[in-house]
Amino acid sequence: MSSSAAATVLMVNLDNGLCESKAKELKWRRFESLERSISPMAHTLVRFSYGEILAATRNFSKGRVLGRGALSCVFRGRVGILRTAVAIKRLDKEDKESSKAFCRELMISSSLQNPNVTPLVGFCIDPEEGLFLVYKYVSGGSLERHLHEKKRGVKGSATLSWSVRHKVAIGIAEAIAYLHNGTERCIVHRDIKPSNILLSSNKTAKLCDFGLATWTSAPSIPFLCKTVKGTFGYLAPEYFQHGKISDKTDVYAFGVVLLELITGRKPIEARRPQGEENLVLWAKPLLHKGKGTIEELLDPRLKCTLRNSSQITRMIEAAAACITSEESRRPSICEIMAILKGEQEPFLSKRKKSGFLGNGLVIDCYSQLQQTNSEMKSHLALAMLGVSEFEEDDHLYCR
Ligand SMILES: Nc1ncnc2c1ncn2[C@@H]1O[C@H](COP(=O)(O)OP(=O)(O)O)[C@@H](O)[C@H]1O
Ligand SMILES: [Mg+2]
Repeated sequence: MSSSAAATVLMVNLDNGLCESKAKELKWRRFESLERSISPMAHTLVRFSYGEILAATRNFSKGRVLGRGALSCVFRGRVGILRTAVAIKRLDKEDKESSKAFCRELMISSSLQNPNVTPLVGFCIDPEEGLFLVYKYVSGGSLERHLHEKKRGVKGSATLSWSVRHKVAIGIAEAIAYLHNGTERCIVHRDIKPSNILLSSNKTAKLCDFGLATWTSAPSIPFLCKTVKGTFGYLAPEYFQHGKISDKTDVYAFGVVLLELITGRKPIEARRPQGEENLVLWAKPLLHKGKGTIEELLDPRLKCTLRNSSQITRMIEAAAACITSEESRRPSICEIMAILKGEQEPFLSKRKKSGFLGNGLVIDCYSQLQQTNSEMKSHLALAMLGVSEFEEDDHLYCR
């Protein structure tokens, strides 16, 4: 090796050494600041060691994976002398967003106490191995699995009955109402969707995944964010287009979940016939046509009986109100709850007079996009149907 080559190698090595120690220092600083940020709530939770996490998940064995998201993987496990069943969420080490999401989720989840919210039990911070959140295990699987996953002959995986769908709708509305109005500060979840809704053994719905949740000053006081995060198909128009967040962001997403419960369809499905790929756009005109369209909307796997027809009508009314494009006209979750429970005059008839059914904008956009057939094939195009403009700086995370 020539002397110049050796010198170059030596320089590179030195440089690597410096980078490594700097990276280590940065990592430690990040963990110190993380500890400081969570200190107001940390004492309310159990702090697990990494060894306990490893033992609980049997070294993160593949058979224990409960689910995966954009920034994490969740494992089933048991902890403590009582061998309590838990779900351990391991945040991806490499992602810069992870410690922010961990902090947000820990701070918000630990402040919540509601029968329709998954309880956080504890956490683990290990500078070498990463960040972990320990939740109470919810045994019945996610709503996503029950509604949309192909059945593989698993015991108890029959189609969700109407009564369970109704119970889930009421349960999640209760959870959202609690977040918006039942805590000290209004919390916006920002990622309401079936994979973030778990079912207990008696089919009680439990909201989970507070990785995007945020505190706001009060319900109905929107604020602007620079980066749009969430899931295609569930993003309210004002959030998608302008980064405007408020309690109404969750109301819109909840409306899409209601549509999924009613129809059994996914929010975006490229394999559907033209005009049916985007659930909101397909359902919107049908929702406003009244009772004659119930059969068209209803999941073909369900049977509509007289006993549950009023519940179905109310759920359709609630869904229609939730997906109102204009944020200021979209009702609050408490109004939606009243519709679902039948405690209020049918909302649609009241709103009709004030132009509530004016969905012309959506239909206009739809006919324009029908012309660009190839574009419609892409997931992005389908998700953006009905959206008039899109800011390039905004980033979308598919979870
Ligand atoms: N407490 C829990 N009990 C049972 N399963 C859970 C629990 N928490 C999460 N899961 C499963 O793990 C999946 C991902 O969890 P989630 O918290 O949504 O993570 P991510 O932020 O990565 O989306 C869920 O869709 C669900 O299937
Ligand atoms: Mg999730």
